Amino acid sequence: MVKIPSHIQALSPYKPGRSAADIRAEFGVEDLVKLASNENPLGPSPEALKHLVDGARGMHLYPDGGAALRRLLGDAFGVGMERVICASGSEAVLLLALRTFLAAGDTLLASEGTFVGWQVLASASGHRCTYVPLRKDYSFDVDAIIAAVEPTTRIIYLPNPNNPTGTWFSQEEYEKIVSSVPADVLLILDEAYFEYAEAAAAGFPNSLVDQPANVLTLRTFSKIYGIAAARIGYGIGSREVIEAMLKVKLPFEPAMMSQNAGIAALRDTNFLGESVRLNTRELGAVTEGLARLSVKVPKSAANFVMIDCGSRDMAQALWHGLVRRGVITRPLDGFGLPHAVRVSIGLESENARFLAAFEASLAEDEALARSIREATASL
Ligand SMILES: Cc1ncc(COP(=O)(O)O)c(C=O)c1O
Repeated sequence: MVKIPSHIQALSPYKPGRSAADIRAEFGVEDLVKLASNENPLGPSPEALKHLVDGARGMHLYPDGGAALRRLLGDAFGVGMERVICASGSEAVLLLALRTFLAAGDTLLASEGTFVGWQVLASASGHRCTYVPLRKDYSFDVDAIIAAVEPTTRIIYLPNPNNPTGTWFSQEEYEKIVSSVPADVLLILDEAYFEYAEAAAAGFPNSLVDQPANVLTLRTFSKIYGIAAARIGYGIGSREVIEAMLKVKLPFEPAMMSQNAGIAALRDTNFLGESVRLNTRELGAVTEGLARLSVKVPKSAANFVMIDCGSRDMAQALWHGLVRRGVITRPLDGFGLPHAVRVSIGLESENARFLAAFEASLAEDEALARSIREATASL
């Protein structure tokens, strides 16, 4: 039998947010709302959809390795294409960074309760990752993260805002991190929800402004641009960082169709504006709706909120209560927060449906209502 390394054997397969078809089959609920994967409830950018077809016309030709989109992004951010890399989703850029910059004995650093994709890639790399506990309010403990840097630390991963907590670190904290981390350590700022955060949180830091040479900023077309299935994301860093990663990247990634969709989505500023406005308004509505039921959530700058249920059993009870009422949310075992559930922000009608299902689930289960209110009281 082929020998499988112990760190790969120890991995659990990634469990994505459950699809509507899957839930329909298991629970027999017909009319479903999916608020499980932080997708854009408005659907794809219409421009992206149109240009996907143009990309398909040249499907017999090998793609250009993302050159056209790199050029456009390089211009848009005023950094030049040499500082941009595109791949099949920002998670692919993350994987590329791990493959490019790690050598034997190097270690990784991140916070607990962070993006499951990082946790999977870090474990699969075989390099030790130190996870620093979250603060009580679920924000990153910036001082503790800085204190946890070791001589072996080679990569630090910090999503801002964080998924699944929705919390973020301020400009001041960002500057503190940047000035404290040694210049030879790669600091990955995963800004998958940047466009939402910029609108939702005043003073939200933009790591592309005066970006230090050891920072790699990740962004994606999967969230606000609404083309998650196209698998297209990008990284922006110093020339040296991007040049090294380009040597490791699969030469024909990303797919041409995906790249064309990304180019069109980037130009579709109407759709971007509409998506931002919807989320900012509905994030407020959901947060207030929960507060009316005496349930608090960590203040979110993204397109989702996290509900602490007090225990894993209670989180399961909430998830089931919601799904029986046709609302699919995301349990957070894989993220290391088994006592919590994440709810994506949908359309106004979908969010109203969630709030009604949430209220009904709490009314039906007194222990659940008590547990959630107690767990979130101090937020
Ligand atoms: C923080 C964060 N980074 C990256 C991703 C993955 O994005 P992509 O679809 O571009 O791989 C997600 C998706 O949920 C995310 O939450």
